[in-house]
Amino acid sequence: METLKEKEAALQKSYMREVRMLVEDAEKRRGKKLTYHVTTFGCQMNAHDSEKLKGMLDEMGYSEIESENADFVIYNTCTVRENANLKVYGRLGRLHSYKKKNPDMIIGLCGCMMEEKDVVEKIKSSYKFVDIIFGTHNLFQFAQLTLRRLQENKMVIGFEADDNSKIIEDLPSRRKYSFKSGVNIMYGCNNFCSYCIVPYVRGREYSREAEDILSEIKALADDGVKEIMLLGQNVNSYGKTLAKPVSFAELLRKTEEIEGIERIRFMTSHPKDLSDELIDVMAESKKICKHLHLPVQSGSSELLKKMNRHYTKESYLELAEKIQKRIPDIALTTDIIVGFPGETDEDFEDTMDVVRKVRYDSAFTFIYSKRTGTPAAGWESVPEDVVKERFDRLLNEVQSIASEKAMAYEGKTLDVLVEGINEHDSSLVTGRLSNNSTVHFAGDESLIGKIVPVYLKECKGFYYLGERK
Ligand code: 5AD
Ligand code: SF4
Repeated sequence: METLKEKEAALQKSYMREVRMLVEDAEKRRGKKLTYHVTTFGCQMNAHDSEKLKGMLDEMGYSEIESENADFVIYNTCTVRENANLKVYGRLGRLHSYKKKNPDMIIGLCGCMMEEKDVVEKIKSSYKFVDIIFGTHNLFQFAQLTLRRLQENKMVIGFEADDNSKIIEDLPSRRKYSFKSGVNIMYGCNNFCSYCIVPYVRGREYSREAEDILSEIKALADDGVKEIMLLGQNVNSYGKTLAKPVSFAELLRKTEEIEGIERIRFMTSHPKDLSDELIDVMAESKKICKHLHLPVQSGSSELLKKMNRHYTKESYLELAEKIQKRIPDIALTTDIIVGFPGETDEDFEDTMDVVRKVRYDSAFTFIYSKRTGTPAAGWESVPEDVVKERFDRLLNEVQSIASEKAMAYEGKTLDVLVEGINEHDSSLVTGRLSNNSTVHFAGDESLIGKIVPVYLKECKGFYYLGERK
């Protein structure tokens, strides 16, 4: 029997065929291929969604080009910090000038920012040249919305779906790399950190069935994929709400059994519910990369409480130490917010203290950005100059520790998954270590997608120059 999700997928594929016929007609009429470009803002989740958009655009008969001066341009947006939004508005102006010269051009906006009502209102009133708007919940309806736009010739907004459980499987996707791929294991977030807009735009947490995830990974492995990145806002709460609960550690164990998959990564792990079972699986695994992204956000227990993070400075440090003892070669990375409302000098010193104690291999540092609708938006802000001074100090510390840690690998020989030809020097290839660091070494196209041992001859701070062994 066909399930509802299968029915929906079949329906969407029929819309793709209908669009394709219209595109072929237009190509004949205009005597040229119709082109597309997808621009991605934000996180890995968005990058993965963009691969789905590209897969659907391919099915609809459009051809990808490098430039945004295309017949169909999609901005897959992010709204986690305000400057991400500002960037989109800024770049829309340029798209408008392209559209003036190519009136048949279609401009689509999707992603997290489009889940905000105010944003959609603003675009409806001030950016009338935009053709299609849809949020993260409506990604699967992309072809349907495109067809409507082509038939009706006015702005189309897709907002029927607001529930992650309606997310459908089995739509086309086009991977950026033939040998590595993201795999969604869950959608949404239930954590409501007080600064974060994600739970409001991405909706409630919803885990995919383990069987569906594993069969997707098997199919990817059959297609030559060697590295997968399991994606979720908090992978540690994966599977808790399934009819037959499955822990994230169990999912990893099953993923590890899949032949052909050689490297497994995942993002993101919340420190509040990282289990001992997960640490054991990572320690015992030959495939799970020795890299854990463990966002700390702040080192101050008081601020962590205000942030609604459910751990303290001490419990975080204990956890980090436990992981580093059990998996000595692990690379720990993190996210840190500077200037959260009410952050005092002492709070900030606690953050610096955590950075010095954990010694992260790298850290993403962010200046707090007020997001309307979140609890922290109403709290008193820290003066800009104070934030700036703290931010610079933190960045310095983070970078000097990171380069010391990177230096320790100099002279070692480690496996590198080769990703492509070096962008600046075509006699070199570029690849990644298990801990996600970049390595450049002499090689050619035949190495792309292969895992090869490389001698790390020289550490250049954030990357290595190597020699194939
Ligand atoms: N301001 C600054 N940084 C934020 N992040 C999430 N919300 C905000 C905000 N309002 C950061 C957190 C998170 C990362 C993805 O983005 O550090 O881990
Ligand atoms: Fe945002 Fe917190 Fe959810 Fe991460 S865990 S997406 S920071 S609310």
